[in-house]
Amino acid sequence: MQIIIFDNAEQVAENAAQWVSELIRNKDKPVLGLATGSTPISLYKQLVNKHKNEGLSFNHVSSFNLDEYHNINADNAQSYRSFMKDHLFDHVDINQSNTYLPTCSNSQNPREQGVSYEKKIQELGGIDLQILGIGANGHIGFNEPTSSLASRTRIKTLTQQTLTDNSRLFNEGEEQPTMAMTMGIATIMDARYVLLMATGKNKAKAVNDMITGALSAMCPASALQMHENAVILLDKEAASDLADHQYYQWADQQHRKINETYGFYHNY
Ligand code: GLP
Repeated sequence: MQIIIFDNAEQVAENAAQWVSELIRNKDKPVLGLATGSTPISLYKQLVNKHKNEGLSFNHVSSFNLDEYHNINADNAQSYRSFMKDHLFDHVDINQSNTYLPTCSNSQNPREQGVSYEKKIQELGGIDLQILGIGANGHIGFNEPTSSLASRTRIKTLTQQTLTDNSRLFNEGEEQPTMAMTMGIATIMDARYVLLMATGKNKAKAVNDMITGALSAMCPASALQMHENAVILLDKEAASDLADHQYYQWADQQHRKINETYGFYHNY
């Protein structure tokens, strides 16, 4: 794992935006894995700015979102499709027919929907860079604790903690879905690079469990310990439970020097 600790959340977003723009400027048909939640909103803002002010084009990009609520209409304000349109898709030149979310309505078989999502990812050559947040319980996507580390896209029931954490995003009278389709942990592990962003004190324990805890289905993000190219971008608060805080900062400085000498190499 490459662990990079920044002073604040804005710097985390700036760095994540550099990763995304480096990929989409250098690859013919890049495939992005996208995440929802409050953490990546500032990344999407940066990308919209880069599109408007630096000519960053998304017209050759395909994307796959990590998850989507079960049986929700795309035009429902709470759908992750709406989230992506509000924060990114409607503000850049991405071809929205190349943007995919793991949808599943009541009339569809979740198992079949999961399999076809996996097939579509394969068909487009796999995900180059998967953006991730982390739940306070260590979930990635909607892979709640006890999710199989070998799981693929499927339907999951959300835990009470996740429902409570996310209830802030629902207005009074709006129904909060309790089930979601999500990429599995093995789906995420197949991405060539994963970029996990975590900010704020309420993520400190999950971050510490992910990095220094046992590889365990009880902390799904700990699976990233087995990923060859996992990059963890943290602000100081999210990193505050890490005992080796100073080592990570020092190692990052050393790696920057190596990169300056030999160049940055990402094998997408
Ligand atoms: C949600 C999403 C995750 C996200 C997590 C943290 O439940 N399914 O993909 O990483 O919550 O969200 P936030 O960034 O709002 O803390």
